[in-house]
Amino acid sequence: MIRSSTSTLEPAARESRSAASRPTAVGGPVPTGTVGVDAHDVNVAFPTKGDHDLRVLADVSVTIEPGQFVSLLGPSGCGKSTFLNAVAGLVSIDSGSIRIGGQELTSINGRAGYMFQEDTLLPWATAMNNVSLPMQVRRKVDKSEARRLLELVGLKGFEDRRPSELSGGMRKRVQFARLLAQTPEIILMDEPFGALDALTKIVMQQELMRVWEMDPKTVLFVTHDPGEAVLLSDRILMFSARPGRIVEDYKVDIERPRGDLAQVMKRREYRELYDEILHKLMAGEDAHA
Ligand SMILES: Nc1ncnc2c1ncn2[C@@H]1O[C@H](COP(=O)(O)OP(=O)(O)OP(=O)(O)O)[C@@H](O)[C@H]1O
Ligand SMILES: [Mg+2]
Repeated sequence: MIRSSTSTLEPAARESRSAASRPTAVGGPVPTGTVGVDAHDVNVAFPTKGDHDLRVLADVSVTIEPGQFVSLLGPSGCGKSTFLNAVAGLVSIDSGSIRIGGQELTSINGRAGYMFQEDTLLPWATAMNNVSLPMQVRRKVDKSEARRLLELVGLKGFEDRRPSELSGGMRKRVQFARLLAQTPEIILMDEPFGALDALTKIVMQQELMRVWEMDPKTVLFVTHDPGEAVLLSDRILMFSARPGRIVEDYKVDIERPRGDLAQVMKRREYRELYDEILHKLMAGEDAHA
């Protein structure tokens, strides 16, 4: 079942936090200003016109530590976006539970910020006003903070541009700055760079790592690209074909900060995990061909 909501989730009413250290995934201290996600036996089915519901998620259980960067991979239609929507509280689950920072989720997840694959910027508003939107919702607009966020994502000097005056990559940057303006404790990203050309994509991945590694939040990142998953993540969850269940849970053993991602791609650890995941994905595709 779908819960009604606007595309911009209610922002978490918290102050922005100071830079935190590495996530617990690699044994460091717990990062501040973020919370974990605990899914237990989550099942979701959608009603259809026929006799049977469409089973989309089957007994999904996973514990994600605060500050972990986790990618979700799996065949098209296996339920990745549905899982993200369930964590956002936009889709209600039929059974099981989702806990956010230990608290059971029963409605819209106000602690999460969501970056959708589609362009969700207001076309008539400047970059500055788009980024200020979550602050307006909170009735606490801080123009200097919006300016700082635009600078953080590399858009200093573009504050007064409207989306139509920006490139695709720049619009993604504005979307990311707007997400940060919500001060979310959890970041949900659904194929955020899927539509970008190869060069813009690597630039955006590099930027995301730079910003995230300064202040790591729990991230659930949906992608179809195993290379992107290995480059960015601490951990990669692979879903089966629908009904989606988690069939693999990979740990990415590449230290942070990751630095130059083009160099990371040359590393043995990167190549080995990439090959293993690609092989697994292709084996799954064959099974359903
Ligand atoms: N609101 C909905 N109502 C009915 N069916 C839905 C709804 N949302 C998703 N579905 C169905 O659930 C299944 C899983 O969809 P979902 O979008 O979660 O897949 P996905 O893994 O994100 O796929 P993709 O990789 O193509 O984005 C699909 O068969 C889809 O048609
Ligand atoms: Mg999807």
